[in-house]
Amino acid sequence: MNIRTATVSAAIAALTFAAAQSTGLPKLAVKPTYRVCFNQSEMDNPWRLAQTKSMQDEAKRLGWQLVFTNANGSAAKQASDVRSCIAQRVDAIFLTPREEKPLTPVVLEAKRAGIPMFIIDRNVDETVAKPGRDFVAFIGSDFYAEGQRAAEWLVKTTKGKAKVIELLGSTGSSPAIAREKGFHDYIAKHPGIEVLVSQTGNFTRDEGRKVMEALIQAHPDATAVYAHNDEMALGAITALEAAGRKPGKDITLVSIDGQKSALEAIIAGKLGATVECNPRFGVKAFQTLRDYAAGKKIAPKLINDDRFFDISNAKASLNSAF
Ligand code: AHR
Repeated sequence: MNIRTATVSAAIAALTFAAAQSTGLPKLAVKPTYRVCFNQSEMDNPWRLAQTKSMQDEAKRLGWQLVFTNANGSAAKQASDVRSCIAQRVDAIFLTPREEKPLTPVVLEAKRAGIPMFIIDRNVDETVAKPGRDFVAFIGSDFYAEGQRAAEWLVKTTKGKAKVIELLGSTGSSPAIAREKGFHDYIAKHPGIEVLVSQTGNFTRDEGRKVMEALIQAHPDATAVYAHNDEMALGAITALEAAGRKPGKDITLVSIDGQKSALEAIIAGKLGATVECNPRFGVKAFQTLRDYAAGKKIAPKLINDDRFFDISNAKASLNSAF
């Protein structure tokens, strides 16, 4: 490196630190490789597996060290996983918070410890921890819009008349909160759409099936199902068929995620539509970290551009689905 290059590099580094300083966020030096944590919430459905693989693949491609933790569905364990990453003094943390409130304190702890944090997929409680102030950025889908898009499709498909069973995601998680609100806000303008009951199926196929077994007995007049993810919709299809119903014919289903098996269910005529929620965060998350280290201005929210699948494009989209 000659003197001029060294001077320019020093000036860029100084600007980077100054930019970080001005936001109050922890600094991150430009380095050839980093040691970063990825704190996963659980690994119990295809979406989570695809998200983890995408993060691991990108770390491998860049030659970075990825410290991976799996909270196995426990917000308390995930908070302690993050604390362990802070204690290990990693360069940065990628957190996909299981629930909003229990994971908010560790975001502030990481900031106090001087470790930049990137929140991916699910959010924390933004009234307490804000992107661009307490953590670098939120990277993920617009869960509220997902609920709205599912409702819009249902209103159109049922001509504004349906009795709906809603399968909620995990209680206290940001997708469950926003997907419920987005859907309910939309149907509020369509009085012919009535939600008979809303119950959690914890984002898993098995719970979606079990919950639907009970709900379809209690509400035999249901004509539609809104599931907060594909796995629960697929579990619901199994339960509905066992109860003698004909998904796609006498009961309309809509869900969220866009996984391969959901597209297959659309092609088979059982699932009506699914709103994409892309789990492949690797490239975007790691690039955002590099941009941050390089001193580029990072928008506090980086929202994914998601697709929508129904019978018009399910077949053509199969290969690109997770
Ligand atoms: O946070 C995204 C949601 O979490 C996905 O819809 C779901 O499948 C996952 O568990």
